[in-house]
Amino acid sequence: MELHRSIQITSDGELEIAGCRATRLARDFGTPLHAFDEEMMRTKCREIRTSLMRHYPKVFVAYASKAFCSLAMCRLIHEESLGLDVCSGGELFTALEAGIPTENILFHGNSKTSQEIEMGVRVGVGRFVIDNLDELDLLSDISRKFRRRTHVEIRLNPGVEAHTHDYIKTGLIDSKFGLGITDGQAMKAVERVLASDYLVLEGIHSHIGSQILNVEPYVLAAQVVMDFVGDVKEKYGYSLREVNLGGGFGVRYKATDTPISLDEYSRRISQVIRESCHVQRLDLPCVVVEPGRYIVGEAGTTLYTVCAIKDIPGIRKYIMVDGGMSENPRVTLYQAEYEAILANRALEEPAETVSIAGKHCEEGDMLVIDGKMPQIQPGDLLAIPTTGAYHYSMASNYNRYPRPAVIFVKAGLADIVVERESYANLVARDRIPRRLAQAGAKEIRPHLPAAGNPG
Ligand code: LLP
Repeated sequence: MELHRSIQITSDGELEIAGCRATRLARDFGTPLHAFDEEMMRTKCREIRTSLMRHYPKVFVAYASKAFCSLAMCRLIHEESLGLDVCSGGELFTALEAGIPTENILFHGNSKTSQEIEMGVRVGVGRFVIDNLDELDLLSDISRKFRRRTHVEIRLNPGVEAHTHDYIKTGLIDSKFGLGITDGQAMKAVERVLASDYLVLEGIHSHIGSQILNVEPYVLAAQVVMDFVGDVKEKYGYSLREVNLGGGFGVRYKATDTPISLDEYSRRISQVIRESCHVQRLDLPCVVVEPGRYIVGEAGTTLYTVCAIKDIPGIRKYIMVDGGMSENPRVTLYQAEYEAILANRALEEPAETVSIAGKHCEEGDMLVIDGKMPQIQPGDLLAIPTTGAYHYSMASNYNRYPRPAVIFVKAGLADIVVERESYANLVARDRIPRRLAQAGAKEIRPHLPAAGNPG
């Protein structure tokens, strides 16, 4: 396969990630292991900002931390002068612990609890992105209670088809996200924010979906947003200072995937906004974007050790590895497709078609279906690229597997950024009610047949 920028092959045929041999990483940190190429993430942060700024004067880029959130990741984002989009109290807490200035934080979520809203208001997050009218009223009340002026964006539902997997489309009318335009809810929200003494209306937000590989839906959505901004100006004489066009930029999972050109995106978006402003006599707003996957997706690679191989002649050869749907649920959830590399013999030619199966107790727990691979043996090391986004952040402990370690790799150096979970971690929050803690024997105990002659 064609390799990603962060992955190289050494002359003796070993996969190398940002200057570290995969076999060394596996030996030092164990598998499964998520390895992130730090320099690649930094490059992506700079690419997106410079690309937008080449075409448009006022830009703010906020990393969507749901893609991968940890203290080190938040630090990296801050060092690269990006803001942070959080969508839960947990992500907000992580951002605060990492020392992200609160004015650089945007708080999202379609079902924010009153505790989360209170937390965001008290620390003074830069923007609340209001998703529905009930949230708006609660936010207004809580802001009044704490005598805080809260700066908000209103999330529109632009009604745009994003050509991605159904589960990650968010801009359709029948969606739990955002306020509709045609049913008047979005304008009602504007009216209520403008009437509130404690809410300050800064902008309009839209996010149409994720893993988008085509610029057109963005252009349509930007037009819808700008028309709405014009309507607000006309109706209330109020000039919105920012338009947030969300995230969603697709990345390359397989060699055949073709992400959109950032330059084209920036040029087309800039064109729509400039023209709208000209026609509707508006001042140029600041453009906010919230990429998640784009920044971390391709920078992440997961390493697995092959545990066993099962060949069903004429049917399928299963390569079973030491991870699976608990750290990559995307195959099961979205039928996502990945390619794997034999990391310890990366120069070997593909020899057969195999499927890579996870170790969970689910038939659907697969990582690669029908991939071309060299001859693989138990003990081999496999690498699956483009696992930086929505892998660790969606990981679970299904089957009580501890979550893997996460490392950042840079110029031959590897550092832990999230420790591997231990078995002790798994039971650390378990509690045994007193009535179950007593050791008293029951009269009848289940038992397996005694060892010996089955008779
Ligand atoms: N902004 C908002 C309001 C969002 O809801 C999202 C993602 C983003 C930004 C960032 O989108 P990105 O640039 O990462 O595509 N678990 C799914 C993806 C869910 C995306 C949710 N929202 C997956 O693994 O494909």
